[in-house]
Amino acid sequence: MQIRNWLQSPSSLTHGNIIKREIFSKKDPDNPDKEGAILNYVDSFSRCYLEPRIASVPAAFDDRQLIFYVVDGQGVFEAGDVKQDVQEGDGIIVPPGLTHTLTNEANAPLEFLILEEVLPDGVEASRKDALIRNYRESTLGQGHWTHLVHPIFSQDDGLVTMHSVLVVRIEAMQTPDTHGHDDNMDEVWYMLEGNGIHVVSQNVYRQRPGDAVSVAPSSPGHTLINDTDEPLKTFYFARYNR
Ligand SMILES: [Fe+2]
Repeated sequence: MQIRNWLQSPSSLTHGNIIKREIFSKKDPDNPDKEGAILNYVDSFSRCYLEPRIASVPAAFDDRQLIFYVVDGQGVFEAGDVKQDVQEGDGIIVPPGLTHTLTNEANAPLEFLILEEVLPDGVEASRKDALIRNYRESTLGQGHWTHLVHPIFSQDDGLVTMHSVLVVRIEAMQTPDTHGHDDNMDEVWYMLEGNGIHVVSQNVYRQRPGDAVSVAPSSPGHTLINDTDEPLKTFYFARYNR
């Protein structure tokens, strides 16, 4: 099964008060039946939230880097000398060992995604400080015919395992090309707004907000077709076969 909604995932806690629903995780030979454990490289992808007027407990993780993406709501991110308001569309890289907190000062939930990159043996993260960037700060690009791509982070920004973290839009009634991926990479699409039909190999998924689709492997290919009258907007991360 290559589609999974966060509602299908068990809940757990991280950073004291962050409520986490892990959608996909890295394949685990010791636990081959774990649901959603289908990724080859990226360690964890979760939908998370903070309740209104709640702060996370200060936390630091020496063995992994975290990447946050704010889906909805308003918060305050603090780490070292950085104290900054964050909102929808903001990505945050939190390097290993950096103590950080996220505070929801609003009366509505703060919804966000967390990606985890565990440092491979002998690898050090290049970043030492946090990086906050909204996807709207980057210039729009186009690929695969109709993918409208806002880059957020790349390895130049300090990603360790992943090569790309993006927001991708597809306009109403448009289809990208169909292209395939082997099982030696990770590529995941998470629907933020709108919906479309994601064809992966011979599977046809109606992908709605909160649904994540993993497309490695896909033979002969995959394509996310917007068959609706509204644009769709996705969060995308990938580790390519380079
Ligand atoms: Fe693809």
